[in-house]
Amino acid sequence: AGDSEVINYDFSFEGPFGSYDTNQLQRGLQVYTEICSACHGLKFVAFRNLSDEGGPMLPEDQMRAYAEFYEVFDPLLFDGEGDFRPATPADKFPESSLSNAPDLSLMAKARAGFHGPYGTGISQFVNGMGGPEYITSLLTGYADEPECAANMEIPMDGYYNTAFAAGGYPEECTYEDGSHKYPGSWISMAPPLYGDDVFYEDGAATDLESVSMDVAAFLMWTAEPKMMARKQAGLTGVIFLTVLSVLLYLTNKRIWAPHK
Ligand code: HEM
Repeated sequence: AGDSEVINYDFSFEGPFGSYDTNQLQRGLQVYTEICSACHGLKFVAFRNLSDEGGPMLPEDQMRAYAEFYEVFDPLLFDGEGDFRPATPADKFPESSLSNAPDLSLMAKARAGFHGPYGTGISQFVNGMGGPEYITSLLTGYADEPECAANMEIPMDGYYNTAFAAGGYPEECTYEDGSHKYPGSWISMAPPLYGDDVFYEDGAATDLESVSMDVAAFLMWTAEPKMMARKQAGLTGVIFLTVLSVLLYLTNKRIWAPHK
């Protein structure tokens, strides 16, 4: 794999005090539903979770209506013969309908946007893992093929993308030592977004970058639905330990005071 160009986008949920933007998660759900779900599944996410605190927080009736819009196969119907029925809140999203399109439930945690330097992980320590940054960069990273790939006898399969490092890459575009002249590689997913692909009720921007960030934020939530609770617990822990340290210091001083 070669280089991948990942831009360090700013998301609301970054840092120790960051939190998901409910409206953004709802917009991301809309983008997933209208566009990505044609190929990608979310098999680890249950519909009821769409109403959870700290998530897209769909009102209960909206979440139920949303679930009913999907059909699931229920093996218990018809005396065990099984049949399709509308999904209920307890059901999960379907699996990917296109066999080579990966499930997106955990994608924001499965990919890292930031690496190095030299395997030290310092970049990730400062910037975070970069999963949602990677997804945004992937969706905005389609570009014209570099010239070296333009006149090949057998053209490359797929689409040139500057963020995707795991795909095919032509020998014509490598240096003598095997390193790549251009970042990224060829991905088999056609560009799913172009900008103005959706209509948002809340009037938010629908340019390519904004829509990509919305769906990336939504996929961060599917991969880490309890992030808000985790940060809250971490902060409580730090405050608790700080107070404890002060008390222990003062106790120690008092115990040893007579012997000094
Ligand atoms: C791969 C996101 C729409 C087909 C991927 C990957 C992500 C992604 C994150 C994984 C890249 C990696 O392995 O690092 C999305 C999002 C979409 C979307 C957010 C909606 C905005 C679609 C659609 C299709 C599709 C509509 C089918 C027409 C594929 C395929 C792959 C893929 C075939 C595998 C690519 C490869 O490994 O070469 N997508 N996708 N995707 N997607 Fe999508």
